[in-house]
Amino acid sequence: MEQLNGKVAVVTGGASGIGLALARAFAAEGMKVVMADIEPGPLEAAAASLPASAEAVTGVADVSRPEQVEAVRDAAVAAFGAAHVVCNNAGVGSGGAMADVSLTDWEWVLGVNLWGVVHGVRTFLPLLQEQGEGHIVNTASVAGLFSAPFMGPYNVSKYGVVALSETLFNELAITQSAVGVSVLCPSWVKTRIAESARNRPGGAGDPESASAIQEVIDGFISTGISPDEVAAKVVEAVKVGRFWILTHDDTAAAVATRTKSILEDGTPPMLMH
Ligand SMILES: NC(=O)c1ccc[n+]([C@@H]2O[C@H](COP(=O)([O-])OP(=O)(O)OC[C@H]3O[C@@H](n4cnc5c(N)ncnc54)[C@H](O)[C@@H]3O)[C@@H](O)[C@H]2O)c1
Repeated sequence: MEQLNGKVAVVTGGASGIGLALARAFAAEGMKVVMADIEPGPLEAAAASLPASAEAVTGVADVSRPEQVEAVRDAAVAAFGAAHVVCNNAGVGSGGAMADVSLTDWEWVLGVNLWGVVHGVRTFLPLLQEQGEGHIVNTASVAGLFSAPFMGPYNVSKYGVVALSETLFNELAITQSAVGVSVLCPSWVKTRIAESARNRPGGAGDPESASAIQEVIDGFISTGISPDEVAAKVVEAVKVGRFWILTHDDTAAAVATRTKSILEDGTPPMLMH
């Protein structure tokens, strides 16, 4: 979609981090913006932080619930009559050894990160097809390209988002659809992802293991790039129709190392983000 001015962007997880940066970047392109998030207070504050010239509406929604994603679509159509660029971006992180991860955490992380994207695609794709234009951006991660230890549910969810996006790309190509799709695979970005437990059903979980993992993740996050840098790459990818959106120089080498281990019948390499 070369021309974004006047079009409508929908961003889930729009109250913080990458989602907020996407909303800002699309607004700067002259797009109308629909911001959805599970956190009502930060969502309103995020919308209020956009430049006064930006046309934005908000919708409180839990993306793991299909009817709430449908409500976001309906809000977009009611406010602006369309949705053109749909960013299925809401996500949560949680760490821990596979032997210890609770069923609650498996369901929570897959519910938001994978089912949230499934609901986003199922809900918005027919509208985009009907309009005869549109672009879907699914936020995965480098965790969808190689598997660091102690991130089991997160890795599984992000591999799923990559697989879904690749499948969709080829289906759209076969049908010569006017709708495009991209998959965003960042490494560390300075956001509130390490504080995801704020939205965990039933509270923050085991505080002892949470604080140990939190320290490690906080360390990585502090080395991250800015959400605005990520958003700029997304805007460019939407304009030129690029599928893979990689944000860090070292991702290519990690992917090559994993691929080599597969082709040479090796063992999974210990790749960290
Ligand atoms: N920060 C990183 O290093 C990094 C790296 C790779 C991928 N990502 C991905 O980027 C995306 C955005 O995360 P972020 O880093 O900006 O974190 P963030 O915590 O700053 O923002 C995530 C937003 O999603 C919202 N959210 C959480 N659960 C939700 C739900 N059930 N329904 C709707 N909204 C919900 C949160 O309230 C928050 O506003 C996620 O998919 C994440 O996995 C982040």
